[in-house]
Amino acid sequence: MDHSDLDSAYEIEKQVNPSPWSKDNFYSSFDVGHHSLVCRIDSKIIGFVIFSLIKQESHLLNIGVAKDWQRKGAGAMLLKSLIKQSKVLGAKKVFLEVRSKNDNAIFFYTKYNFLKDAIRANYYSGSDPDDAILMSLEI
Ligand SMILES: CC(C)(COP(=O)(O)OP(=O)(O)OC[C@H]1O[C@@H](n2cnc3c(N)ncnc32)[C@H](O)[C@@H]1OP(=O)(O)O)[C@@H](O)C(=O)NCCC(=O)NCCS
Repeated sequence: MDHSDLDSAYEIEKQVNPSPWSKDNFYSSFDVGHHSLVCRIDSKIIGFVIFSLIKQESHLLNIGVAKDWQRKGAGAMLLKSLIKQSKVLGAKKVFLEVRSKNDNAIFFYTKYNFLKDAIRANYYSGSDPDDAILMSLEI
C-alpha cells in the first residue's frame, strides 16, 4: 500500500467493518511501518491487508474487501500474499484476533487452516463489545 492508497482503504473499511479503524489509524499504521498489501481491479483498490512483524511472528492487524467484491477470491489472494511475504521476512507463524461474532471472517480463516488458540474475554469495548478469538497458523 502506498501513502496515496490510504484513503481508498479507509473507504472500504467504513463499508465493511462495523467498528472501523479511523482514518488516523490508517495513517499512523502506515507511519510506524506496518506492512500492507492491496488488491486492485485495474487501478481501483478493492481490498487491503495490514500486518506487522514481531520477531518470527506476523500479526494480521486488519483485512477488508469491498462489499461488491466479496466471495470472489480477493480475500484469499490477500491472505496468501500476506503468508508469502511474512515467510520471506522470516516469520514462522501468523496470528490474529477476530470478533467472536464475526462468523464470516472465522469461516474464512478456518478455510485457510488457522486454528483457534484462545478467547480474550471483553477484548473489544465501545458500542459493540465482544470477545476476541485468537487464531494462528504455522507457516
Ligand atoms: C473476511 C473477508 C476479508 C473475506 O474476503 P473475501 O474476498 O470475501 O473472501 P474470499 O472470496 O477469498 O473467500 C475465500 C473463502 O473463505 C470462506 N468465506 C469467505 N467469506 C465467507 C462468508 N461470508 N461465509 C462463509 N465462508 C466465507 C469461503 O470458504 C470462501 O471460499 P468459497 O467462496 O469458495 O466458498 C471479507 O468478508 C471482509 O472484508 N469482511 C469484512 C471485514 C472483516 O470482517 N475482516 C476481518 C477482521 S478480523
